[in-house]
Amino acid sequence: MSEANKLNSITEAIRIQIPRTDESEHSTPLYLTSSFTFDEAETMRAAFADENDENIYSRFTNPNVDEFIKKMCALEGAEAGYATATGMAAVFASIFALLKQGDHLICCSSVFGSTHTMVTKFLPRYGIETTLVDANDKDAWEKAVKSNSKMIYLETPTNPQLEIIDLEWAGNFSKRHNLILNVDNCFATPLLQKPIEYGADLIVHSATKWIDGQGRVLGGVIVGKKELIKDIYLFSRNTGPSLSPFNAWVLSKSLETLDVRLQRHCENAMKVAQALKQHKNVEWVKYPFMEDHPQYAIAKKTNESRWWYCLF
Ligand SMILES: Cc1ncc(COP(=O)(O)O)c(C=O)c1O
Repeated sequence: MSEANKLNSITEAIRIQIPRTDESEHSTPLYLTSSFTFDEAETMRAAFADENDENIYSRFTNPNVDEFIKKMCALEGAEAGYATATGMAAVFASIFALLKQGDHLICCSSVFGSTHTMVTKFLPRYGIETTLVDANDKDAWEKAVKSNSKMIYLETPTNPQLEIIDLEWAGNFSKRHNLILNVDNCFATPLLQKPIEYGADLIVHSATKWIDGQGRVLGGVIVGKKELIKDIYLFSRNTGPSLSPFNAWVLSKSLETLDVRLQRHCENAMKVAQALKQHKNVEWVKYPFMEDHPQYAIAKKTNESRWWYCLF
């Protein structure tokens, strides 16, 4: 990612704010409301017909949720987004909104546990088949493609194995086979890695992790191509995994400090990794920016040259 873009999006994550009310408040107010009122029936009709951008009901849209989504789109370089109550709701909506009976999903085998359960136990109930492939076995990815393959789902780095997948390769692969590339970017955050720059169509996040970073709220978000988000929005607006305005307010504020928090996380993680490496009772240490990490070269190519956690 270019330095200019990075600074720009970090600044935007602070500056983006919904319009001030007549009270001239400094900080965005909290719109804790289930629904919105209309002075005229015609405006309401047009809102339900999608002819204007008026808020109708907080399961569909809400000012606090919109602010959080806009900040995430700025950070990821995405066209549009939809925010969800949890990270798993984001993973769920990004898959279930776009795949149908008879479709095939290719998924990296070392995904987060609940995602693994979702694709292996629940997707088959709806007639959607999944092939799990080793994250870094490129032949296995090629062999997994079928005529009904629709989407690739991957997580990089993986939780908890800390495997790094070559996003540049994944972007080219998905384009070559005309597949939707859906990336869980929760562990990297858009500050360390921007999958859209490598051709990802969708990004999902558990905002519960580093975006909040302080263990206060659950949340999730999906950002990406406008036409895909349109389908995800329609699915979610009618099935109900939406983010609460309060949690969105907390998460939007959290994004203002994400860059400084991550800088400290990364500095600390490097020091911890180096100390563990020298410890006589520690057999191995896995840290993407140590040369003995199996995907060190990939980490250097697709991630910011820093990382915030290590495994031992
Ligand atoms: C990589 C990854 N994706 C998704 C999730 C699910 O997020 P949530 O707990 O917000 O539902 C997690 C949770 O730990 C995760 O680590």
